Amino acid sequence: MNKHLIAPSILAADYGHLNKDLEMLNNSQADWVHVDVMDGVFVPNISFGQMLVKQMHKVSKLPLDVHLMIVEPEKYVESFKDCGADTITFHLEATNHAHRLAQHLKSMGVKAGVALNPQTSVHNLDDILEDVDMVCLMSVNPGFGGQKFIYRTLDKIRKLKSKIIERNLDVKIEIDGGVGLQNAEVILKAGADVLVAGSSVFKSENPNQTIERLKAIEINNFDI
Ligand code: DX5
Ligand code: ZN
Repeated sequence: MNKHLIAPSILAADYGHLNKDLEMLNNSQADWVHVDVMDGVFVPNISFGQMLVKQMHKVSKLPLDVHLMIVEPEKYVESFKDCGADTITFHLEATNHAHRLAQHLKSMGVKAGVALNPQTSVHNLDDILEDVDMVCLMSVNPGFGGQKFIYRTLDKIRKLKSKIIERNLDVKIEIDGGVGLQNAEVILKAGADVLVAGSSVFKSENPNQTIERLKAIEINNFDI
């Protein structure tokens, strides 16, 4: 069975020592760096933009998984690609033209991800699932790190996994928000492929070891 990926969220890192944290990730078992871009409009918080992402790209050896929590994502995807994004995830709730945007991302040579807020049903993906590389299911309300995992997400993961298997698609399921050692196993059993982990990694005593533990979890079959 395919091994899951770990994407530590840099939102929870120490901004005074960003290079140090990125280097720690370079030397860990992390697969991607999850980069949360917030505009203060789509979500009630502002994080960082292209300039910082460009700087991260210079230091990070890992692919950058850029999560755009912004309105009008179509205006900015090209600039984030130019800053070194490998995957760009936009919110389904933030655009009327998800299909066009996914096609555009692919034509630029970046992986296309679509994210759903907790209240958005996975059925809304029925006509876009074929066109994306990844679905990011938010397991907290986007905008802040350190929130509690919403357990209803497990059911959404199972439903989405069944659709992906039924249609024989190569689409990853990423789970974002409140993920840590206490719930990673049930999330993976429900069918997740990528775990985003912010606070649970960076606020732990030994971030490197926490990543190693998250990566070491073995799942033999999905509970769908
Ligand atoms: C929330 C962000 C998440 C956040 C996760 O809006 O999209 O990626 O950084 O942080 P934790 O793991 O602390 O919930
Ligand atoms: Zn995120």
